[in-house]
This record gives sequence, C-alpha cells and structure tokens, in this order.
Amino acid sequence: MDLKVVAGAIQASDADAIVVNLFEGVQPGGATKAVDDGLGGAMRDLIEGGDFTGQAGQVAVLYPRGALPARRVIVVGLGPRDDFATGAAEAVRRAAASAIQKARDLKARRVASILHGAGAGGLSVEVAAQATAEGSLLGLYTYRGQKTDEAPEALPQVLELMIFEERDVPATQRGVDAGSAIAAGTTLTRDLVNLPPNICTPAYLAQVAGQVAGEVGLRIEVLERKQMEALKMGALLAVAQGSDTPPRFIVLEHNGGRGRELDTIVLVGKGVTFDTGGYVLKPQEGMNDMKTDMAGAAAVIGALRAIGALGVELHVVGLAPAADNMISGHAYRPQEVVTASNGVTIEIHSTDAEGRMLLADALVYAGRFQPAAVVDIATLTGACVTALGKGVAAGLFSTDDALRERLLAAAAATAEKLWPLPLFPEYEKSIESQTADVKNSGGRTGGVGSSATFLKHFVAYPAWAHVDMAGMAFGDQDNPYVPGKGATGFGVRLLTEFVRGWAQQ
Ligand code: BES
Ligand code: MN
Ligand code: ZN
Repeated sequence: MDLKVVAGAIQASDADAIVVNLFEGVQPGGATKAVDDGLGGAMRDLIEGGDFTGQAGQVAVLYPRGALPARRVIVVGLGPRDDFATGAAEAVRRAAASAIQKARDLKARRVASILHGAGAGGLSVEVAAQATAEGSLLGLYTYRGQKTDEAPEALPQVLELMIFEERDVPATQRGVDAGSAIAAGTTLTRDLVNLPPNICTPAYLAQVAGQVAGEVGLRIEVLERKQMEALKMGALLAVAQGSDTPPRFIVLEHNGGRGRELDTIVLVGKGVTFDTGGYVLKPQEGMNDMKTDMAGAAAVIGALRAIGALGVELHVVGLAPAADNMISGHAYRPQEVVTASNGVTIEIHSTDAEGRMLLADALVYAGRFQPAAVVDIATLTGACVTALGKGVAAGLFSTDDALRERLLAAAAATAEKLWPLPLFPEYEKSIESQTADVKNSGGRTGGVGSSATFLKHFVAYPAWAHVDMAGMAFGDQDNPYVPGKGATGFGVRLLTEFVRGWAQQ
C-alpha cells in the first residue's frame, strides 16, 4: 500500500472509503463533523441510537449514497478523550489499524483518512501523521509463509492522508516518512521471526542484513567462524560448534564513516536461529517457539533499517551474533570451561543458557566502538516471562540511570513496554564457579537477575542496558496493529525511538 499526503477537505474526497474518527461520548467535531454534516447527521443518529459510542476499536460504516463523493465512510472509535491525553499515539495507531482492516475487508482500493489525533486530539501534525501511517501499515501485516493454497487477500493500494491546511503538508510528510520507515523495519523483523529455522539460518540473516545495508546505505561486515576464532570468541563458538549450520557475526553500521564527530550507540541482538537447549535438552513444549530465539537480532536489523532510512544524526552500530543451539558429537556440554574474547573464563552449567554466551562476545566486541551507550535485546529467559507475563512487558536492566530513563521514555512513546528490574550484587553469588571466573547460569531462583548479572562480566563501558524480550517476540497480542498469532516485531519501534530521542538531545 502506498501512502500519499494530500491537502484538502476529506468530505470532498472521492476515495472508495474515507476514514474519520470519534472520541467516546463526544459529539462529532472538526473533519468528522464536516463529513457528518455532508451525511445529513447520519453519524449523530448512530450515536443517539447507541449503535456507536466511540469506544476504542469500534468501527462503523456509513453509505453517503451520493451525498458525498466517497463511496463509504468508515468511522473509528478513539476511546475516551481523558485516556487519550496519556496514550494518544497508541490510540491513534490502534484506530488507524482497525480502520484500514475494515477498508481491506470491504475491498476498498483507494482509501483516504484524516490524521487521527491532530487538531482537537492535541497531537502535533507530525506525530499524528507518523502514528496514523505506522498503524495503517502494520495493521495490514500478514505472513503467508510457505502456503501454496488460498490467494492472499487483496490490500488497499493507496492510503491518502488528508491534511486540511496546505502549510501543514511538510510536517505531515515528515511524519508519514518516519512512520513508513519504522513500519518497514518492523515488517522485516516480523518476517524474519516468522520464518522457519531451516530457512532463517545465520547465513540467511547475514544475507538479509546485506540487502538492508544496500537499501538504506549502511556499512556491513559479516564475520565467519575463522574470523571469530581469530578474535577468540570462545563463548559464541562453544554454542555454534554443535551445529552443522555455521554461525555468523553481523555488524551493521549507520554513519560509519562519520563515527568520530557523532555519539556512538551500539545495539546488540541475540540471534539463536534455533534453540533446542543443547544437551540440556528442552522438552517439546519448551522448544515449540524456539525458531523465534533470534528475535533480538531481527529487531536490531529492523531498527538499523529504520534508522538508516531516517538518516538519524548519530553513529549507530548493530551487532547480531547468530548461531544454532544443537546436539551433536561436537556440541558443548555442561562442566566444560570456555574463554570469552575478553579473557573471562566461563563454566558451562546449562547448555540451554546459550543466548548469554553469544551476547558475551558481542558485548565485548561493542567495546571497540567506544560507545556512549550499548543496549542489548534478547529472548533470554523464561524467568522474565514468569515475572512479567507473556506479551505484557520486557524486562529492563541498566548500569546507567539516564540510559534507563531514555529507554523508558521510548517504551512509553511506542507502547513497547519495559519494566525495570534490579542488578542486585547478590545475584553474583548464584553464578560463582568453582572452576572458572563465572558460571553461565544460576540456581532455580532469580533466573532473570542472574542472566543480566552474567552479561555484566563482558561490559567495559559506563552505559549499558539489557532488554529481556522473552515472551514479547511471538504470540497473540490483542492489538490491531500486531495482527495474527505470529511475530510482533517487538523492539524495532522501541530501539528506533530511543535512538531518535538520543539524536535530539
Ligand atoms: N531462549 C530461551 C529463553 C526463552 C524461553 C525465550 C521462553 C522465549 C520463551 C533461553 O535460551 C533459555 O533457554 N533460557 C533458560 C535459561 C536457564 C537455562 C538458565 C530458561 O529460561 O529456562
Ligand atoms: Mn536456551
Ligand atoms: Zn535461547
């Protein structure tokens, strides 16, 4: 679907469907009122009859029958105006997604919409345009996989975002461009996470990262096993050695040539392309969704795509260490001791604590960029899902208060929720080893804190944060712009917003 910014009055549009909105319990105003006046008050009838309240997610269709040039009017609820004050962009994304889904179901090809939340809603034109674009594009996402039957449902071809004042066109266009870039990054990430593990291998991730680099102008370097050996990445290699599918270490760089004059942010994503648990084998239920264990890496690649397209004024590096966690004659075992690239020795307690092994060497690698901040994102622990719930929030750890605040602000803006968790020194005790500097997993309790505490052994810069997104990558989200049961694309919008916020400081 193409997005176009069009100046003018929506009631004059001759699109297949025009989209307006309504707050709960509020009479039509602005563009919505202009359309309702054109309809002779049909919308007010709907409200008075109790058929439409403006509740979030509610959608009604009205037929102008010649009273307006458009074929249909779609009215979407924005929810109560009081709630809107705190979660405006989120309400707009959801409303935009619900409206475009209705337009798709009605087989409308050309759709025109107002910018939800601008004007009486109180959002700036740019923010409203971004949220409307983002919600519309993400709401139409589907994953067909390798299905050979049923033809895909036809989508609307054009969405015209209508803005009344000609002078607001540039701000609208900026918002639409940002929303489109962020939606494209999120869509790419969803596709990668949805792909089966025999297709989405480390080499495949590297190939896609290469395409992304070409599309938005990033520098790319892909390290293979030989180069990882030269760098003594013993933690990553210990995991990778169990699989016949070779590992990759992907380095994407935005503004790489200009690194010196700009702050450097490094984003690191766990890229376990399938997690069997290794010799500490997962039971079948535990393995079911483990093709999604590369969701952190996919989020970093998607975020770099958006950041590159947006031309953010920062030096941003994306690291995606990628490997399978398998069983074989050369797989690593409990009680082995391996040495990470910073010289720290690790006793393997669980081969299923493999993600932190990949992250260990990647966090060491991040140090070479002299970063102002490093943020890693990983489907790291079931304990985090137990603590915060599935699809509720990701856990956030940070060694730096200002960095934590910035990430929390990005989480609030994007509704990709984070909840702060502690790095208490007590967790160290649980990962003490008799034979090495540290053990790769702690006891039965405190598994989310001990995993973050393990990672800290590989951090040699002041500002580091760790996002545990296990439970957020995949599944039914009950959110119109995260449709279906598959990948959510979690992290792309969050990381992109965080980086944009940093660039504006
Ligand atoms: N990939 C899993 C974590 C996970 C669990 C992600 C559920 C998504 C949903 C990770 O590699 C893992 O196996 N973690 C272990 C850690 C333990 C061995 C210390 C866990 O959570 O059980
Ligand atoms: Mn595991
Ligand atoms: Zn894992």
